[in-house]
Amino acid sequence: MDIAIIGSGYVGLVTGACLADVRHNVICVDNDQRKVERLQKGVIPIYEPGLEEVVHRNVSANRLRFTTSTAEGVANSQIIFIAVPTPPQPDGSVDLTYIEKVAREIAEVLKEYRVIVDKSTVPVKTGEKVAETIRRYTKSAVEFDVVSNPEFLREGCAVSDLMNPDRIVIGSNSDRALALMKKVYEPFIAPIMVTDVNSAELIKHAANSFLALKISYINAISAICEASGADVERVADGIGADKRIGRSFLNAGIGYGGSCFPKDVAAFIAISEQLGAPFTLLREVQRVNQTQLDRFIKKIKDTLWVLKDKRIAVWGLTFKPDTDDVRNSVAIDLVTQLLKEGAIVRAYDPKGVEKVEELKLCHGAHLAKSAMEAVENAEALVLATEWGEFERVDLVQVRDRMHTPLIFDGRNLFDPKTMKELGFTYFGIGRADLH
Ligand code: UGA
Repeated sequence: MDIAIIGSGYVGLVTGACLADVRHNVICVDNDQRKVERLQKGVIPIYEPGLEEVVHRNVSANRLRFTTSTAEGVANSQIIFIAVPTPPQPDGSVDLTYIEKVAREIAEVLKEYRVIVDKSTVPVKTGEKVAETIRRYTKSAVEFDVVSNPEFLREGCAVSDLMNPDRIVIGSNSDRALALMKKVYEPFIAPIMVTDVNSAELIKHAANSFLALKISYINAISAICEASGADVERVADGIGADKRIGRSFLNAGIGYGGSCFPKDVAAFIAISEQLGAPFTLLREVQRVNQTQLDRFIKKIKDTLWVLKDKRIAVWGLTFKPDTDDVRNSVAIDLVTQLLKEGAIVRAYDPKGVEKVEELKLCHGAHLAKSAMEAVENAEALVLATEWGEFERVDLVQVRDRMHTPLIFDGRNLFDPKTMKELGFTYFGIGRADLH
C-alpha cells in the first residue's frame, strides 16, 4: 500500500517506520523543515529502542521517505494517516487546531478517493468534524472516507508494541475504506476489531483512563497499606493473580505522568461533560494521582525535617524508564518541589538529561553524569524513575559514597529487607519503612 503519515512526532514516526517495515511505501510528512532535514540525514529526533534501526533499514530499501509537502503525501498515497499533536487546553479539553489545519490542507490537494485516518488521540466525534471540514474545503466533489485507528503504543517499547499489538481497532463507517485499512494491517498477527468511528475514538480514551484508574486504585491502596502496616506489593500480587484483574499497571509509585495519561484523563472528563454525561469517577483518579506525590514529599520532609540546604540525590527524571521523555514527568515535579524547599539537588537520569536542559526544567539542580556522582556526599537519595540501571547498581558503593544512607524509593524498585541489611534507612511506597 502507498501510505502518507502527516506528523512525524512520536506516533507518526514510529507508525511510519513500522508500516514501511512490513513492506508498505510510506511518506512521512512534517511541517518542521529542520526535523525533516535531520530525518532525511538519518538523525532520529527521539530516543526509542529499535526505532533508529527500523528507520535506517527502510530508508535504505526506499520504502520510507520524509517531506514537508502535504500535497506530495496526498498525491502519492491511498491512505493518509493524521498523527499530529492534540495538546491539552487549560480547561482539560483538547486543542484540535492542528487536526483541523491538516484536514483543510488535505482537502485543498485532494483530487481522487483517499482514506483519511485519524491516528492522533482525539475526543469522540472528532472524525465527524474532520469529514465535515474536508467536505467544506475540497475544491471539487471528490470522494473520501474518514476512519479512526487509535494507537496503543507505549513510549519506551513503541516499536515492539506497534509490531505486536494486542488488537487493532478500525473505526469505519465505510466498507470501501475498511477493505483498504485491512490491507494495511494484513501483515500483522493481531485481532482486528471493527467498529464505527465514534466507538473507536472512545476506545482510546476509555482504555487510557482505565489504566490510569488502575494505577490510582493501587496508589490509594498504598496509602491504606502505610496506615495499616500492610505491604502494597503483596496486595497487588494477591489481587493481580485474579485473571479478571491482572497484575500489570498495579505498580504503586509516585503517580502516573507522561504526555498521555494526564492529558487523556482530563480530555475524557471534558468531553463527557460537554456531552452531558460527566465522568466524575475520573476526577477522583486525578486527585489520587496528585495526592500520591504530595504524600511522598511529606514523607521526605517528615524524615529530613528541614529541606533547606539538604543535599538530596534524585535518580530518574523521565516520566518512566527506557525513554528520554521528561514532559509531564512526576520526577520533574518532585525535583521542582525539592528545589522550592531550598534543597541542593543532584539529579541523574540515563537518558533524560538532554531533554531537561533543552526544555529548561529543574532550574537550579545539578545534573550529574552518573548515578554515583549524584549520590556523592548526599544526605538522602530519592528514586523517582525505575530505570534498570538503578537496579543493577552497586549498592555498597552507593552507601559508602553517601553522607547518610537514607533512601526514598518512589517506585518500590528495591527490596526493603536487602536495603536494611546493607545499612540503608529505607522508605518505599505502601510498604513498611525499615530503619
Ligand atoms: C500510555 C498507554 O500505556 C499506551 O497504551 C498508549 O498508547 C499511550 O499512553 C498513548 O496514549 O499514546 P505511555 O504514556 O507511553 O503509554 O506510558 P505507560 O507505560 O502507560 O506509563 C504511563 C505512566 O504510568 C508512567 O508515568 C508510569 O510510571 C506510570 N505507571 C505505569 C505507574 O505508575 N504504575 C504502573 O503500574 C504502570
